[in-house]
Amino acid sequence: MSTLTQDAARAGASVGLDGDRITFRGGRPLKGRIEVRGAKNLVTKAMVAALLGEEPSLLRQVPDISDVRVVSGLLELHGVKIERDTETGDLHLDPSNVERAHMAEINAHAGSSRIPILFCGPLLHRLGEAFIPDLGGCRIGDRPIDFHLEVLRNFGADIQKLSEGIRMHAPNGLTGAKVELPYPSVGATEQVLLTAVRAKGRTELRNAAIEPEIMDLINILQKMGAIISVDADRVIRIEGVDRLTGYSHRALFDRNEAASWASAALVTKGDIFVGGARQGEMLTFLNVFRKAGGAFEIEDDGIRFFHPGGELKPVVIETDVHPGFMTDWQQPLVVALTQAHGTSIVHETVYEQRFGFTDALVEMGADIELHRECLGGQYCRFGQQNFLHSAIISGPTKLHGANIEVPDLRGGFSHLIAALAAEGTSTVSNVGIISRGYENFIQKLEQLGADFTVEG
Ligand code: EPU
Repeated sequence: MSTLTQDAARAGASVGLDGDRITFRGGRPLKGRIEVRGAKNLVTKAMVAALLGEEPSLLRQVPDISDVRVVSGLLELHGVKIERDTETGDLHLDPSNVERAHMAEINAHAGSSRIPILFCGPLLHRLGEAFIPDLGGCRIGDRPIDFHLEVLRNFGADIQKLSEGIRMHAPNGLTGAKVELPYPSVGATEQVLLTAVRAKGRTELRNAAIEPEIMDLINILQKMGAIISVDADRVIRIEGVDRLTGYSHRALFDRNEAASWASAALVTKGDIFVGGARQGEMLTFLNVFRKAGGAFEIEDDGIRFFHPGGELKPVVIETDVHPGFMTDWQQPLVVALTQAHGTSIVHETVYEQRFGFTDALVEMGADIELHRECLGGQYCRFGQQNFLHSAIISGPTKLHGANIEVPDLRGGFSHLIAALAAEGTSTVSNVGIISRGYENFIQKLEQLGADFTVEG
């Protein structure tokens, strides 16, 4: 057992920090087996949930990624004792001595993640106040927090915007509320859950997000003693309770990472067994993967994704909230679609600016046009605005090596696999961002036989 801070130092040395570069020699199929652990978009929230318990919690299968380190740092600042078993990924979180943290210390984490906004409810319950630094996360749209603030106001929080961040108070505690979200936001749904479970009385949330990661957070909160029902039509009802215990939970696997490796297999004409992946949470992805010409075999301990030979086929995709095609799946798949015979369309309806990564693909020889119109079967919130949120991908096009810079997490992974599929040598810089969400991606690339050199 070691403390997370020691782990972070070790991981920083091996995984790579922002600014690192990798030179790839493309053209080799990726083949072999890799494992995925807990979902980035669940474990970070489950760690925040531990703040609500009166006893320690145990979260299993926690990946060593930088978003986990950021959340650990913030929890430790608030007095949570954290220990991690590096082998198993077990994370022990002890919230027995939750305390106020200094604003300046919290601010050292400004811009590093979006998770701090989810500390609000638990801290208001535990301390009667909370301070949240400026948020970070990928620059893939405006990413406002208006839904979150409105939710917290509904529960009775008093919110003050300061130049350094946001300060909140709830001297009289928080009370359950009726909330209807303008859009089924993942983060705002989590905000309601993490706040309502200890609020006085009942909460009814309409137009909630129902992603599998949210369902797993609900599982965790129920283990802690919460009373939550998920009804038809995106309605979640919560009865507040006076106290919550700790939990012991194996985190849901990272389906976004699994889908990324699946696309890597397709674009490099490879064969990757993703240990830990499950069918149920990837149903929509698997359908599209098959339509695009990919093949898969579902086993008890994971899913084998491979290129079965023959031509890849074009597809028309609209990203959407669950159970639709996730926005985080489109970027790696777009790289594979550059190799499909025909014209594919991707209509991004979740984030207004999530095609920035395609510039580099075009530089590498891809034929991708971006449009402001909604090119799927439905109009989305961005249709009347000036956002390039639909892509037409014509293929197949040969990809050639280039010097490219990673713009964000998922776009960054797509750059890696484009470089691996391209003819010749590519240098991909700023790869440190990728360790925000892909555990040991460099070691995994090695395991799969990729030909590359990491530069400092
Ligand atoms: N939105 C608002 N106001 C708000 C909150 C959201 O307008 O107060 C808008 C957003 O701008 C966006 C849409 O609602 O257009 C959906 O955002 P959502 O709140 O659902 O996203 P999130 O909670 O910030 C999480 C994941 C994202 C994933 C989305 C959608 C985490 C830490 N992030 O973001 O993951 O794409 O849900 O499933 O859980 C990633 O892993 O690379 C990533 C970006």
